[in-house]
Amino acid sequence: MGAAGPLCALLLLLGTGTGTGTGTGPAPPRLVLALLARNAQHSLPHCLGALERLDYPAGSIALWFATDHNSDNTTAMLQEWLGAVGKDYHSVAWKVQEEPRSKADSYPDELGPKHWSDKRYENVMKLKQEALTYAREQQADYILFMDTDSVLTNNQTLKFLMAQNKSVVAPMLDSQTFYSNFWCGITPQGYYRRTPDYFPTKNRQRVGCFRVPMVYATFLIDLRKEETLQLAFYPPHPNYTWAFDDIIVFAYSCQEAGAEVHVCNQHRFGYINVPVKAHQTLEDEHANFVHLTLEAMVDGPPMQRSRHISLLPRPLTKMGFDEIFLINLVRRPDRRQRMLASLQELEIVPRVVDAVDGSTLNSSDIKVLGVDLLPGYYDPFSGRTLTKGEVGCFLSHYNIWKEIVSRGLERSVVFEDDVRFEAAFPARLQRLMEELEQAQQDWDLIYLGRKQVNDEDEAPVKGVRNLVVAGYSYWTLAYAISHHGAQKLLATKPLSKMLPVDEYLPIMCDKHPNEDYKRHFSPRDLLVFSAHPLLVYPTHYAGDSNWLSDTETSTIWDDDSKKTDWAGSQKTLRGSRGSTSYLRSTTRDEL
Ligand SMILES: *[C@@H]1O[C@H](CO)[C@@H](O)[C@H](O)[C@H]1NC(C)=O
Ligand SMILES: *[C@@H]1O[C@H](CO)[C@@H](O)[C@H](O)[C@H]1NC(C)=O
Ligand SMILES: *[C@@H]1O[C@H](CO)[C@@H](O)[C@H](O)[C@H]1NC(C)=O
Ligand SMILES: *[C@@H]1O[C@H](CO)[C@@H](O)[C@H](O)[C@H]1NC(C)=O
Ligand SMILES: *[C@@H]1O[C@H](CO)[C@@H](O)[C@H](O)[C@H]1NC(C)=O
Repeated sequence: MGAAGPLCALLLLLGTGTGTGTGTGPAPPRLVLALLARNAQHSLPHCLGALERLDYPAGSIALWFATDHNSDNTTAMLQEWLGAVGKDYHSVAWKVQEEPRSKADSYPDELGPKHWSDKRYENVMKLKQEALTYAREQQADYILFMDTDSVLTNNQTLKFLMAQNKSVVAPMLDSQTFYSNFWCGITPQGYYRRTPDYFPTKNRQRVGCFRVPMVYATFLIDLRKEETLQLAFYPPHPNYTWAFDDIIVFAYSCQEAGAEVHVCNQHRFGYINVPVKAHQTLEDEHANFVHLTLEAMVDGPPMQRSRHISLLPRPLTKMGFDEIFLINLVRRPDRRQRMLASLQELEIVPRVVDAVDGSTLNSSDIKVLGVDLLPGYYDPFSGRTLTKGEVGCFLSHYNIWKEIVSRGLERSVVFEDDVRFEAAFPARLQRLMEELEQAQQDWDLIYLGRKQVNDEDEAPVKGVRNLVVAGYSYWTLAYAISHHGAQKLLATKPLSKMLPVDEYLPIMCDKHPNEDYKRHFSPRDLLVFSAHPLLVYPTHYAGDSNWLSDTETSTIWDDDSKKTDWAGSQKTLRGSRGSTSYLRSTTRDEL
C-alpha cells in the first residue's frame, strides 16, 4: 500500500446498525467518520469516549478508521473499542498497517516518533484521500474528519455543524494555550499570517461562524454541494507549490475549488491538544494531553474516557515517593472525585485521608484532643481567632505527620483537594527530587504550591534548578515532606497552642514576622524550600463565582452556640486572590 509499506489490511465489516434513525421522520443524513490514529494511546480513550456520546444515530454513521506504524497500544485500543461498539454503526472500514518492528520499518526519512517526514505527510494525504473517495463511493452526504487529539465533549456538535449548511465547517476547539484548529489568515505562499481576528475569535469575544482560509483536526465536508466535488488531499493540485502538508494542501484545494471554509465558536464544542514540536517526544505529547484533561476538569466541560477501552495508557505510581496523601472532606465528594480523576490522569496513586471536619467538632471534642489556642492569636483581617475549619485543617495535616512518623515514611507528598496542576507536573517534580538528591541537600518540607506573602527575593538552592529557600508563605495546598520534617513538626506539641497550619510552617522555619507567636515554639529549624516556579495552584480564588471556603464558613471553634457565616465577611469579598481550600482561609492574601 503506497510508499508506507506492504503490510496492510482493509477490513470491511457490514454492521448490523439500523441504517436509519428511529421513528417516522426523514432518515438522518449519512455520514462517514474518518479517524486517522497513530501513536495515540494517550488521547484515544477520551477521543472515542466523546465519539460514542455524540447525539447522532450510530446506524447512520459509517466508520472509516486507519492506523499505521504504532509504537504504542493504539492498535489494541482501536480493536477493543471496535469490537465493543462497531456493530452499532452502519459499517466499519478499518485499515491497519503493521507496527514497526524496528526503526527501519518506520518511514525511512523519519527522525523520531513525532517527526513528520515528507513520506509521512504523503501517507497521511493518501489515507485522507482514500477516506474521501470511500465516502463518495458510499454516496454519503457528509464526511467528518477527526483527529485523535480532538475531543468533542459537546454531544450536539455534529448536528450543529450539519445545520450550518456550509461546504466545509469546523467546530472551534479549545486548548490549554492559545492554540486552536483554524487559521484566520494565510500568506500568498501558504504560511500562517497573523491577523487581528484570531484572538477575539479564539476567546469568543467575536461569536459566530466565520469564513477562514483553513481549518484542521476536526471538520465536516458536505459532499452534496457542487463546490466540494473537486476537493482533494492527494495528489495535490497541479499548481500547488506550498508546503508538503495535508492540512495546507487541503486549504489550497478549497481555495481553488471555491469551497468556502468556516469555523464556528458559538458553543464549547470540545478540545484540541497542543501538538508537540518536531524535536519533542511522545512523552511530551502525552504530558500535554494530560494537562489538557486536567484543565478540562477545572474549567469544564470535563472529558470522559470510553468505557469500552480497558487498557490504561500506563500503570499508576507514587512518583518515587513512599506515600502520596490526599486530604479530602467526606462532605466534599465533588472535590474528591476531581482530584482522584486528576491523579489518575497523572498516573499517581494516592492514599485518600478523610479530613477532620471542623464543623462537627464541639468544645468537648476539642478538649479531648488537647487542642488549645495559641495565646494572643488573632486574625487581623477578620477580627477573629480560629475557625473550626482551621482546627480541622490543622488536625488533618497533623494526623498525616503522625502517620509519616509511625510508618517510617522517608519522603511523602501531601495534597489538599483543590489543586490545579502545572503541565508535566510528575516529570518536573521527579526531576526536582533527583537534583536535590544529587546535590545532597538536606530538606524537611518543600512547598509545591503556596502563596508568597512578601514580594522578596528568595535564595536559589545550589545545584537544584527551580528550587528556592522559602520565605514567609501561606497555604498548604501541596508539599513534599520528609520523615525528619514530620518529626520536627510534631515535636513542639503544636495542638496545645494552635494557630492556622499555614502560620505554623513559617514559624517552624523561623520566617514568621510575629515574635510573640514564635517564642512558643522551639527549635524553629525546619528546612523549608519552595518549587520555583510553583508546580501547583489553587483551582479557584476568592471572588470567583464558585468560590467556597470551608474554613471561612465554619463557626468559631470554641463557641457552639454561635453560627458565624464568614462567606459574607469583608475579607473574602475584597476580590483578593486566595485559596478556596477548606484547609486554609483565604483571608490574608491582600498582604
Ligand atoms: C448531551 O449532553 C447533555 C449535557 O451533558 C446531556 O444533558 C444530554 O443528556 C446529552 N444528550 C444525549 C442525547 O446524549
Ligand atoms: C500496552 O498495554 C499493556 C497493558 O496495559 C501494557 O502492559 C503494555 O506495556 C502496553 N504497551 C505499550 C507499548 O505501551
Ligand atoms: C443550503 O445552502 C444551499 C447553497 O449551498 C442553498 O441552496 C440551500 O437553500 C440551503 N439550505 C437551507 C436549508 O438553508
Ligand atoms: C495552473 O496555473 C496556470 C497559470 O496560472 C493556469 O493557466 C492553469 O489553469 C492552472 N491549472 C489549474 C489546474 O488550475
Ligand atoms: C460532642 O460530639 C461528640 C461526638 O462527636 C458527642 O459524643 C458529645 O456528646 C458532644 N458533646 C457535646 C457537649 O455536645
